[in-house]
Amino acid sequence: ALHASFASKAQKESQNFNYRFQPQASYKVAVLGAAGGIGQPLALLIKMSPLVSDLHLYDIANVKGVAADLSHCNTPSQVRDFTGASELGNCLKGVDVVPAGVPRKPGMTRDDLFNINAGIVRDLVSAVADNCPGAFIQIISNPVNSTVPIAAEVLKQKGVYDPKKLFGVTTLDVVRANTFVAQRKNLKLIDVDVPVVGGHAGITILPLLSKTRPSASFTDEEIEELTVRIQNAGTEVVEAKAGAGSATLSMAYAAARFVESSLRALDGDGDVYECAYVQSDLTDLPYFASRVKLGRKGVEALIPSDLQGLTDYEQKALEALKPELKASIEKGVAFAQKQA
Ligand code: NAD
Ligand code: LMR
Repeated sequence: ALHASFASKAQKESQNFNYRFQPQASYKVAVLGAAGGIGQPLALLIKMSPLVSDLHLYDIANVKGVAADLSHCNTPSQVRDFTGASELGNCLKGVDVVPAGVPRKPGMTRDDLFNINAGIVRDLVSAVADNCPGAFIQIISNPVNSTVPIAAEVLKQKGVYDPKKLFGVTTLDVVRANTFVAQRKNLKLIDVDVPVVGGHAGITILPLLSKTRPSASFTDEEIEELTVRIQNAGTEVVEAKAGAGSATLSMAYAAARFVESSLRALDGDGDVYECAYVQSDLTDLPYFASRVKLGRKGVEALIPSDLQGLTDYEQKALEALKPELKASIEKGVAFAQKQA
């Protein structure tokens, strides 16, 4: 499903509601696929942000009720609903975005979603290009390893590609890594930060446990166990949901964190870092997830130091993931170029 984005900034007058923060700024965020499993809780979390003035919810169905429901929360943002292709343009004017898609069922890989989601992402990003080309575009729809290259190709075809503003959202991998490492090592959860690089599927998800902060030591068994669990965490949820979809609540939490970080960066905070799958020159692959510094214009810098001084285990895993990630990237690019 979807995601969000923001866009135009406006000063906010103090509000007559019961809200804890005085908003510093106002941004417009659109959530595409907003009636879905991720879309609904994500919209709720974004509705709680003091940085958002306008929240636009788009879906092909069932979004009116979601918007009516959310609009009763006494937080600053105004909620509007948009349904169907004819309303998509208006939904996107002046905002930043993210596309929708379908989730997998047990036994499926993320790549099995390609045939449906590739077209959805292509069409939604095309509308983004026409209506809010300056937006931060945050892609959640799987397979992210391919949908981000598709989005980039569509934006290039429209002449509005800005690699600094297109993100594959991999925050959930970091959220999971932080949770599992803190549990395993008995660390205070709030302090733990594990960079996760590569991509967002199976072995392309590479947690860099040696770069855990605060520094922690792991036995070889712990490294293997934690790495495999982080790589398979999406499947853990798909199997537990037994046909009812994939991660939605943890994903909404993770996406809301990425949106909030983006808004803080847009708002001038000079100390915002997140992992994301972006156009990259850190490896020989054109797209790669790593920590990035976010700024007003999107990706301000990639953080190459995370890939330096890797352990043998991490270095091997990095080499092992490259062929799969490369193939997923090429599949996305080929799809978009065939449609052009
Ligand atoms: P869902 O089926 O519950 O919701 C998808 C929503 O998208 C539905 O409301 C549907 O009506 C809508 N939709 C379908 N086609 C659309 C279109 N053309 N335009 C607008 N809306 C459209 O699915 P979900 O659980 O919310 O998952 C959505 C996607 O997110 C899936 O592709 C899933 O694999 C992916 N996902 C990614 C991550 C990640 O870490 N990046 C994590 C979890 C899920
Ligand atoms: C996840 O990591 O939970 C998502 O990519 C959904 C999935 O299919 O696993």
